[in-house]
Amino acid sequence: MINIIKVNNEQQFNETGAGIIASLLQTNPRAKLGLATGSTPVGVYKRLIELYNEGVLSFKLASSYNLDEYIGLPADHSESYRRFMNEKLFNHIDMPLENTHVPSGSSNEAQQAADTYNHLLDEVGQLDLQLLGLGHNGHIGFNEPDEELQAQTHIVTLDERTRQANARFFNSIDEVPTHAITMGIGSILKAKQILLMAKGKDKAEIVAKALKGPITTQCPASFLQTHPNVVVILDQEAGSLV
Ligand code: GLP
Repeated sequence: MINIIKVNNEQQFNETGAGIIASLLQTNPRAKLGLATGSTPVGVYKRLIELYNEGVLSFKLASSYNLDEYIGLPADHSESYRRFMNEKLFNHIDMPLENTHVPSGSSNEAQQAADTYNHLLDEVGQLDLQLLGLGHNGHIGFNEPDEELQAQTHIVTLDERTRQANARFFNSIDEVPTHAITMGIGSILKAKQILLMAKGKDKAEIVAKALKGPITTQCPASFLQTHPNVVVILDQEAGSLV
């Protein structure tokens, strides 16, 4: 079931997203959180840090599992997702660093890194919540549109459109990695609850396709329609077609 929440401004967007994660942690301090990168959740992370600083929230017993990572960037590269997560969230809260997990994209053995992450997810079992952003082509994590989708963590070749969209964070498109490791659709859909967030006019069309269109591998996010507990937070622009 998909529950759509439309908000009126950036502040509400971030507060609503952070509020859902905060109440989960308040009822279950050991919550296993699936986290996401990209620009969409940055404000949510900021708000969570504020709540932590206000003493409303602790991450001490919680753990986190990120969706994806570029292949070929050293972990300390300014655009690696490990560094992104450290800077945007982990360095500012009390979740022990060893409880935070991001696939390793820096090793030469990418396949082994994917297998290791899969193994970890299998051991951990069901995540309590999976936070997701949405790519312009309907990707979630880095599960790109294709004739078939992978259930488990795997290596993907990034779409040209995805590389272009992410080029804004690099000096040039040539520096954007061509491959990534991502949790598969099966791992994402296994979470108890999914929190999808999207904002901006440029996401309106893909939001409508994902939530109301046919379920197709050409729009990986459309598989969220099969999940029993999805909350979608949209600003007015991203939600204008649903
Ligand atoms: C990136 C990430 C996704 C993210 C998406 C949208 O490439 N791999 O996890 O949700 O693209 O990014 P943004 O939130 O910046 O629009």
